[in-house]
Amino acid sequence: MYYEKHIFVCENLRTEENARISCGKFNSKKIKDLLKQKLKESGSTKKIRINQSGCLDRCELGPVQVSYPEGIWFSLKSESDIDLFLSEYILNDDLEKIKTLLIDN
Ligand code: FES
Repeated sequence: MYYEKHIFVCENLRTEENARISCGKFNSKKIKDLLKQKLKESGSTKKIRINQSGCLDRCELGPVQVSYPEGIWFSLKSESDIDLFLSEYILNDDLEKIKTLLIDN
């Protein structure tokens, strides 16, 4: 795998009345931008890529993100979630410590 971790953040936003819920309604763009900013500020030299994605079809669990190579699904909802995810998963590869962030995998 080219990247050590490749993380996709759903930013899909549905604005139509009576539309299915979407990750964009949970500030997913802000979550992605903050995660990218904090990763950069960490000074990590790991090959980590964070990309926005369209709908991943798990909208009701949103906001959702998925990371490879593990293929884990998770939901970052707050700045403290982002801090935990960054320090324990991205920088230390410790899945045990981010159990509270994981969604049905
Ligand atoms: S809108 Fe994010 S998974 Fe569908």
